[in-house]
Amino acid sequence: MTSLNVPVLTLDGPSGSGKGTVGQFCAQRLGWHYLDSGALYRALAYTVDRSGIDIDDLEAVLCVAKKMQFECRPSPPEPAEIVVNGDNVGNEVRNEGVGETASLLAQKPEVRAVLLDLQREARRPPGLVADGRDMGTVVFPEADLKIFLTASVEERAQRRYNQLKLKGFNGSLADLFQAIQERDARDVERTTSPLVAAEDAVTIDSTNLTIDEVVTRVLDLVLNQLDIAGIDTTERETGLT
Ligand code: DC
Repeated sequence: MTSLNVPVLTLDGPSGSGKGTVGQFCAQRLGWHYLDSGALYRALAYTVDRSGIDIDDLEAVLCVAKKMQFECRPSPPEPAEIVVNGDNVGNEVRNEGVGETASLLAQKPEVRAVLLDLQREARRPPGLVADGRDMGTVVFPEADLKIFLTASVEERAQRRYNQLKLKGFNGSLADLFQAIQERDARDVERTTSPLVAAEDAVTIDSTNLTIDEVVTRVLDLVLNQLDIAGIDTTERETGLT
Protein backbone atom coordinates (compact mmCIF):
# COMPACT_ATOMS: atom_id res chain seq x y z
CA MET A 1 0.00 0.00 0.00
CA THR A 2 1.53 3.38 -0.96
CA SER A 3 0.96 6.22 1.46
CA LEU A 4 -1.47 7.81 -1.03
CA ASN A 5 -3.81 4.84 -0.48
CA VAL A 6 -3.89 5.45 3.27
CA PRO A 7 -7.10 7.30 4.22
CA VAL A 8 -6.73 10.77 5.73
CA LEU A 9 -9.17 12.92 7.67
CA THR A 10 -8.08 16.57 7.90
CA LEU A 11 -9.31 18.96 10.59
CA ASP A 12 -8.35 22.57 10.04
CA GLY A 13 -9.37 25.63 12.00
CA PRO A 14 -8.24 28.46 14.25
CA SER A 15 -6.82 28.15 17.79
CA GLY A 16 -9.40 27.01 20.32
CA SER A 17 -11.88 25.61 17.79
CA GLY A 18 -11.55 22.21 19.49
CA LYS A 19 -9.77 20.46 16.63
CA GLY A 20 -7.07 18.98 18.90
CA THR A 21 -9.51 17.25 21.24
CA VAL A 22 -11.89 16.27 18.44
CA GLY A 23 -9.00 15.00 16.30
CA GLN A 24 -7.60 12.84 19.07
CA PHE A 25 -10.98 11.28 19.91
CA CYS A 26 -11.63 10.59 16.24
CA ALA A 27 -8.18 9.00 15.82
CA GLN A 28 -8.78 6.86 18.89
CA ARG A 29 -12.21 5.68 17.69
CA LEU A 30 -10.94 4.97 14.19
CA GLY A 31 -7.72 3.31 15.40
CA TRP A 32 -5.78 5.71 13.17
CA HIS A 33 -2.62 7.74 13.71
CA TYR A 34 -2.92 11.34 14.83
CA LEU A 35 -0.87 14.38 13.82
CA ASP A 36 -1.07 17.66 15.75
CA SER A 37 0.72 19.85 13.20
CA GLY A 38 0.43 22.94 15.44
CA ALA A 39 2.51 21.04 17.99
CA LEU A 40 5.11 20.46 15.27
CA TYR A 41 5.43 24.23 14.71
CA ARG A 42 5.46 24.72 18.47
CA ALA A 43 8.14 22.02 18.90
CA LEU A 44 10.32 23.83 16.39
CA ALA A 45 9.75 27.17 18.16
CA TYR A 46 10.63 25.61 21.50
CA THR A 47 13.79 23.90 20.19
CA VAL A 48 14.96 27.05 18.39
CA ASP A 49 14.41 29.10 21.53
CA ARG A 50 16.21 26.59 23.77
CA SER A 51 19.16 26.56 21.39
CA GLY A 52 19.45 30.35 21.71
CA ILE A 53 18.88 30.81 17.96
CA ASP A 54 17.41 34.07 16.65
CA ILE A 55 14.19 33.20 14.78
CA ASP A 56 15.34 35.43 11.92
CA ASP A 57 18.50 33.36 11.47
CA LEU A 58 16.82 31.26 8.78
CA GLU A 59 19.79 29.00 8.08
CA ALA A 60 20.08 27.98 11.74
CA VAL A 61 16.30 27.54 12.08
CA LEU A 62 16.18 25.27 9.03
CA CYS A 63 19.11 23.25 10.34
CA VAL A 64 17.19 22.59 13.60
CA ALA A 65 13.99 21.76 11.66
CA LYS A 66 15.75 19.24 9.41
CA LYS A 67 17.23 17.36 12.38
CA MET A 68 14.11 17.42 14.54
CA GLN A 69 12.59 14.05 15.54
CA PHE A 70 8.92 14.52 16.30
CA GLU A 71 6.33 12.15 17.73
CA CYS A 72 2.74 12.82 18.66
CA ARG A 73 0.88 10.44 21.03
CA PRO A 74 -2.85 11.04 21.54
CA SER A 75 -4.14 11.15 25.12
CA PRO A 76 -7.66 12.65 24.93
CA PRO A 77 -9.21 14.62 26.54
CA GLU A 78 -5.75 15.98 27.45
CA PRO A 79 -3.63 17.53 24.70
CA ALA A 80 -1.48 14.98 22.84
CA GLU A 81 1.89 14.02 24.29
CA ILE A 82 4.64 15.60 22.25
CA VAL A 83 8.04 13.94 22.11
CA VAL A 84 10.82 15.94 20.49
CA ASN A 85 14.28 14.48 20.04
CA GLY A 86 13.39 11.93 22.74
CA ASP A 87 12.07 14.42 25.33
CA ASN A 88 8.43 14.70 26.36
CA VAL A 89 7.79 18.44 25.94
CA GLY A 90 3.98 18.54 25.79
CA ASN A 91 3.70 21.01 28.67
CA GLU A 92 6.60 23.20 27.62
CA VAL A 93 5.35 23.77 24.07
CA ARG A 94 1.81 24.73 25.08
CA ASN A 95 2.24 28.22 26.43
CA GLU A 96 1.41 31.54 24.83
CA GLY A 97 5.09 32.52 24.28
CA VAL A 98 5.89 29.37 22.31
CA GLY A 99 2.60 29.74 20.38
CA GLU A 100 3.60 33.26 19.42
CA THR A 101 7.04 32.17 18.15
CA ALA A 102 5.45 29.22 16.32
CA SER A 103 3.09 31.58 14.53
CA LEU A 104 6.02 33.79 13.46
CA LEU A 105 8.07 30.81 12.23
CA ALA A 106 5.01 29.49 10.41
CA GLN A 107 5.02 32.60 8.21
CA LYS A 108 8.34 31.58 6.64
CA PRO A 109 7.83 29.53 3.45
CA GLU A 110 11.21 27.79 3.82
CA VAL A 111 10.24 26.55 7.29
CA ARG A 112 6.89 25.29 6.01
CA ALA A 113 8.65 23.45 3.17
CA VAL A 114 10.90 21.52 5.57
CA LEU A 115 8.02 20.65 7.91
CA LEU A 116 5.88 19.47 4.97
CA ASP A 117 7.85 16.22 4.59
CA LEU A 118 7.67 15.46 8.29
CA GLN A 119 3.89 15.89 8.20
CA ARG A 120 3.42 13.67 5.15
CA GLU A 121 5.49 10.93 6.78
CA ALA A 122 2.73 10.64 9.41
CA ARG A 123 0.43 9.13 6.75
CA ARG A 124 0.75 5.48 7.67
CA PRO A 125 -1.74 2.56 7.63
CA PRO A 126 -4.45 2.13 8.71
CA GLY A 127 -5.16 5.90 8.47
CA LEU A 128 -4.36 9.39 9.70
CA VAL A 129 -6.27 12.18 11.41
CA ALA A 130 -4.31 15.40 10.83
CA ASP A 131 -5.15 18.68 12.52
CA GLY A 132 -3.83 22.15 11.78
CA ARG A 133 -4.33 25.12 9.49
CA ASP A 134 -3.42 23.84 6.02
CA MET A 135 -3.93 20.08 6.28
CA GLY A 136 -6.74 20.00 3.70
CA THR A 137 -5.38 22.74 1.44
CA VAL A 138 -1.63 22.05 1.21
CA VAL A 139 -0.37 19.04 3.15
CA PHE A 140 -3.05 16.48 2.22
CA PRO A 141 -5.06 18.10 -0.62
CA GLU A 142 -6.33 14.65 -1.69
CA ALA A 143 -7.65 13.77 1.81
CA ASP A 144 -10.75 11.55 1.91
CA LEU A 145 -12.62 13.95 4.20
CA LYS A 146 -11.84 17.57 5.11
CA ILE A 147 -13.41 19.35 8.05
CA PHE A 148 -13.06 23.06 8.82
CA LEU A 149 -13.81 23.50 12.51
CA THR A 150 -14.52 26.97 13.79
CA ALA A 151 -16.06 28.83 16.77
CA SER A 152 -16.57 32.48 17.73
CA VAL A 153 -13.51 34.38 19.04
CA GLU A 154 -15.31 34.95 22.38
CA GLU A 155 -15.90 31.22 22.83
CA ARG A 156 -12.36 30.30 21.82
CA ALA A 157 -10.83 32.86 24.19
CA GLN A 158 -13.02 31.55 27.02
CA ARG A 159 -11.99 27.91 26.33
CA ARG A 160 -8.33 28.86 26.26
CA TYR A 161 -8.75 30.88 29.46
CA ASN A 162 -10.39 27.90 31.23
CA GLN A 163 -7.56 25.59 30.11
CA LEU A 164 -4.79 27.96 31.17
CA LYS A 165 -6.48 28.80 34.47
CA LEU A 166 -6.18 25.12 35.47
CA LYS A 167 -2.44 25.48 34.99
CA GLY A 168 -2.29 28.51 37.31
CA PHE A 169 -2.45 31.23 34.63
CA ASN A 170 -3.00 34.72 36.11
CA GLY A 171 -3.63 36.75 32.94
CA SER A 172 -6.93 38.30 31.90
CA LEU A 173 -9.59 37.02 29.50
CA ALA A 174 -9.44 40.36 27.64
CA ASP A 175 -5.70 39.90 26.95
CA LEU A 176 -6.29 36.37 25.70
CA PHE A 177 -9.11 37.57 23.47
CA GLN A 178 -6.78 40.12 21.91
CA ALA A 179 -3.90 37.62 21.52
CA ILE A 180 -6.24 35.15 19.77
CA GLN A 181 -7.51 37.86 17.42
CA GLU A 182 -3.95 38.88 16.54
CA ARG A 183 -2.87 35.25 15.97
CA ASP A 184 -5.95 34.61 13.80
CA ALA A 185 -5.13 37.65 11.68
CA ARG A 186 -1.54 36.52 11.21
CA ASP A 187 -2.59 32.94 10.32
CA VAL A 188 -5.28 34.14 7.89
CA GLU A 189 -3.30 36.92 6.24
CA ARG A 190 0.05 35.21 5.66
CA THR A 191 0.85 34.60 2.02
CA THR A 192 2.11 31.00 2.36
CA SER A 193 -0.52 28.43 3.36
CA PRO A 194 -2.94 30.82 5.08
CA LEU A 195 -5.67 29.51 7.36
CA VAL A 196 -8.57 28.98 4.99
CA ALA A 197 -11.20 26.29 4.51
CA ALA A 198 -10.46 24.00 1.55
CA GLU A 199 -13.09 24.38 -1.17
CA ASP A 200 -14.27 20.84 -0.55
CA ALA A 201 -14.22 21.05 3.26
CA VAL A 202 -17.29 20.60 5.45
CA THR A 203 -17.50 23.50 7.93
CA ILE A 204 -18.65 22.80 11.49
CA ASP A 205 -19.20 25.69 13.91
CA SER A 206 -18.50 24.33 17.41
CA THR A 207 -19.52 27.50 19.33
CA ASN A 208 -22.64 25.86 20.77
CA LEU A 209 -21.65 22.20 20.48
CA THR A 210 -20.04 19.84 22.99
CA ILE A 211 -16.92 17.90 22.05
CA ASP A 212 -19.03 14.70 21.95
CA GLU A 213 -21.46 16.28 19.51
CA VAL A 214 -18.67 17.38 17.19
CA VAL A 215 -16.94 13.98 17.36
CA THR A 216 -20.20 12.20 16.52
CA ARG A 217 -20.81 14.51 13.57
CA VAL A 218 -17.29 14.03 12.22
CA LEU A 219 -17.35 10.24 12.64
CA ASP A 220 -20.70 10.03 10.84
CA LEU A 221 -19.15 11.93 7.95
CA VAL A 222 -16.04 9.69 7.96
CA LEU A 223 -18.13 6.54 7.86
CA ASN A 224 -20.20 7.88 5.02
CA GLN A 225 -17.14 9.02 3.09
CA LEU A 226 -15.21 5.77 3.51
CA ASP A 227 -18.28 3.96 2.29
CA ILE A 228 -18.39 6.13 -0.83
CA ALA A 229 -14.66 5.53 -1.38
CA GLY A 230 -15.26 1.79 -1.09
CA ILE A 231 -13.07 1.43 2.00
CA ASP A 232 -14.20 -1.44 4.21
CA THR A 233 -14.42 -0.11 7.75
CA THR A 234 -14.92 -3.58 9.23
CA GLU A 235 -11.60 -4.78 7.85
CA ARG A 236 -9.91 -1.69 9.21
CA GLU A 237 -11.21 -2.45 12.69
CA THR A 238 -12.33 1.09 13.24
CA GLY A 239 -14.98 -0.01 15.70
CA LEU A 240 -17.43 2.21 13.87
CA THR A 241 -19.72 -0.29 12.24
O1 DC B 1 -2.75 25.05 16.63
P1 DC B 1 -1.65 25.72 17.41
O2 DC B 1 -2.10 26.93 18.18
O3 DC B 1 -0.92 24.75 18.31
O4 DC B 1 -0.58 26.22 16.31
C1 DC B 1 0.53 27.01 16.66
C2 DC B 1 0.90 27.90 15.47
O5 DC B 1 1.44 27.09 14.42
C3 DC B 1 -0.25 28.67 14.86
O6 DC B 1 -0.27 30.02 15.27
C4 DC B 1 -0.02 28.64 13.38
C5 DC B 1 0.98 27.56 13.16
N1 DC B 1 0.46 26.44 12.38
C6 DC B 1 0.51 26.54 11.02
O7 DC B 1 0.92 27.57 10.50
N2 DC B 1 0.13 25.50 10.23
C7 DC B 1 -0.35 24.38 10.79
N3 DC B 1 -0.73 23.37 10.01
C8 DC B 1 -0.47 24.28 12.20
C9 DC B 1 -0.06 25.35 12.97
